[in-house]
Amino acid sequence: MKNRIGIVGGGQLGRMMAFAAKQLGFTVSVIDPTSKSPAGQVVDYQIVAAYNDEQAIRELAKISDYLTFEIELANAAVLDDLAKKGLSIHPSAKTLTIIKDKFGQKQFLRQAGIPVADFEAVETKEDIETVAKKFGYPMVLKARFDAYDGRGNAVIRNAKGIEAALKKLSGRKLYVEKNVSFTKELAVVVARNTKGEIAIYPVVETIHKNNICHLVIAPAPIDQKIATKASKLARKTMQQLQGAGVFGIEMFVTKDGNVLINEIAPRVHNSGHYTTEACVTSQFEQHIRAVTGLPLGSTKMKMPAAVMINILGERTGQVDAKGLEKVLAIPNVSVHIYGKMETKLERKMGHITVIGETVAECLLIAKKSRKLLSI
Ligand SMILES: Nc1ncnc2c1ncn2[C@@H]1O[C@H](COP(=O)(O)OP(=O)(O)O)[C@@H](O)[C@H]1O
Ligand SMILES: [Mg+2]
Repeated sequence: MKNRIGIVGGGQLGRMMAFAAKQLGFTVSVIDPTSKSPAGQVVDYQIVAAYNDEQAIRELAKISDYLTFEIELANAAVLDDLAKKGLSIHPSAKTLTIIKDKFGQKQFLRQAGIPVADFEAVETKEDIETVAKKFGYPMVLKARFDAYDGRGNAVIRNAKGIEAALKKLSGRKLYVEKNVSFTKELAVVVARNTKGEIAIYPVVETIHKNNICHLVIAPAPIDQKIATKASKLARKTMQQLQGAGVFGIEMFVTKDGNVLINEIAPRVHNSGHYTTEACVTSQFEQHIRAVTGLPLGSTKMKMPAAVMINILGERTGQVDAKGLEKVLAIPNVSVHIYGKMETKLERKMGHITVIGETVAECLLIAKKSRKLLSI
């Protein structure tokens, strides 16, 4: 029986994917540069190496029947070679290659007729000034590669701000985006299995603080028309991409009710963490089902509402989780701690999910619970 899964990346996403895989009886191995990584602690075997280390990927391939990812990095040449030798790799190297370059991803979406904010590649201060004449300020300068949790973004408010933004992202390949004055940010988690079946989760609202996901509200408190638009756009986007797996699609809603795609993540997504408690099939189990050729599960919510709040580090140092006993005394609250050894300012250390009858009630309890915890 083919029951060995290899995951490139051993962070919290790999850890939660591993829990789901173990539940279904798979054995799991991961690659992560940090020993005792969040996933490394709960899987059968961890290879300690960089995500892109060719030899490590080949070693992981040798002990896996299915190879998948928790990050949007990929050594496409190696993956293509392994795929040719018959290893099942999802999402496909082609899709990972498109997505890992944020600029290339935007070009791909635009060519597919999917609405995105205006964008242009830039290198120098002069390039940015030229684009500013077209887009106007503010603009968002973004790193094309390896950007996450807002760490690859710098907002440019006026011509004077260009240098500081370039300094923040120095040494990286860049592009600039028109600022979208959105009314809400939404996200849709979508799954496709190796048979081509697609399953779409409810449209959720994401609320960011300092460019990092802070809260997720399910279902998004929006007009049904906008939810339908977002859902259709997610399906259309999926149809443009190859390969199986769970994808997180981030979107902006504008004042006039338009929906634009912000970015695609070719993996389980922070906006889908609520599904563990709130949906019939969690995004993590769905991903395992999708990449191993199993039927997809129902994406329906089991309760009318759910809110997820991230637990971000508030200091730098060794982890010292406090307040768990107070939070867990509240009904309908679930806590996830990722097992990271070090806490850092704004690092994702865990999350809390609250399920209930109304979004308002869940939101209140989520915020209260977060205040009771420190890590
Ligand atoms: N063009 C834009 N206009 C307005 N806000 C933006 C724009 N691009 C990004 N943001 C804000 O920054 C957040 C993080 O940006 P994103 O490009 O999604 O990077 P990351 O990969 O770090 O999530 C978004 O969720 C949004 O709140
Ligand atoms: Mg994002």
